[in-house]
Amino acid sequence: MKKVALVTGAGQGIGKAIALRLVKDGFAVAIADYNDATAKAVASEINQAGGHAVAVKVDVSDRDQVFAAVEQARKTLGGFDVIVNNAGIAQIKPLLEVTEEDLKQIYSVNVFSVFFGIQAAVEAFKKEGHGGKIINAASIAAIQGFPILSAYSTTKFAVRGLTQTAARDLAPLGITVNGYCPGIVGTGMWEQIDAELSKINGKPIGENFKEYSSSIALGRPSVPEDVAGLVSFLASPDSDYMTGQSLLIDGGMVFN
Ligand SMILES: NC(=O)c1ccc[n+]([C@@H]2O[C@H](COP(=O)([O-])OP(=O)(O)OC[C@H]3O[C@@H](n4cnc5c(N)ncnc54)[C@H](O)[C@@H]3O)[C@@H](O)[C@H]2O)c1
Repeated sequence: MKKVALVTGAGQGIGKAIALRLVKDGFAVAIADYNDATAKAVASEINQAGGHAVAVKVDVSDRDQVFAAVEQARKTLGGFDVIVNNAGIAQIKPLLEVTEEDLKQIYSVNVFSVFFGIQAAVEAFKKEGHGGKIINAASIAAIQGFPILSAYSTTKFAVRGLTQTAARDLAPLGITVNGYCPGIVGTGMWEQIDAELSKINGKPIGENFKEYSSSIALGRPSVPEDVAGLVSFLASPDSDYMTGQSLLIDGGMVFN
């Protein structure tokens, strides 16, 4: 019987690469995204290549939808072993312009979602009668504050804090909780960050991505597969003795 993982935000970018990697590692995978079309496309790409995937439409900021998505994955795929709370949004705004609505939106999608994902996964692990692995998307901006990304940075600090707390709360249940901290990854999210920064600082499109990437010790921006390799480890028995950690995978940008 294959182990089962659910990856949120798996319709594109880092989440998609994680889903494809977990399939390669032998998991059956639920592709959970609020973009139904991309989720279905990723699931059918996997199934056509001989893997086992199902698309699940979910808005991760809605607790009931997250519980329903995990239950759908458990029933359809026949078990539940790993959740990757990957979905997230960016917000590029000078600190003094951030509104209450902005904060509500980004905290709902980036932080509340991780609480809900953890709670729903624990319920599913209990139904299956075993522990499991919870893996959360943090960021380099969870380790160091980044300018113009104040709201985003604080949500990722919160995810790193929650990863530590949940690790301690859930260890007695045989559940590990870890996080990954990507750097500058070429995805739709960075296209948005680059375009928004351009509006603020007038630099041509692509220039901000290039400048941010120029400080990377390994000399190139990240691709989603870099991150998927780390998540593969965090989902595997090789990480059984690790919990509460948020690991940097940034090519050498932030050092702790
Ligand atoms: N790209 C980077 O450089 C970078 C760096 C550090 C951390 N991260 C984090 O990695 C994660 C993935 O980022 P990405 O670059 O692949 O982003 P992306 O924007 O390319 O993809 C995000 C996916 O999440 C989905 N999504 C967004 N809101 C959702 C919601 N409310 N419910 C369900 N699905 C939703 C989108 O439809 C999309 O498929 C995020 O948590 C992000 O903060 C990204």
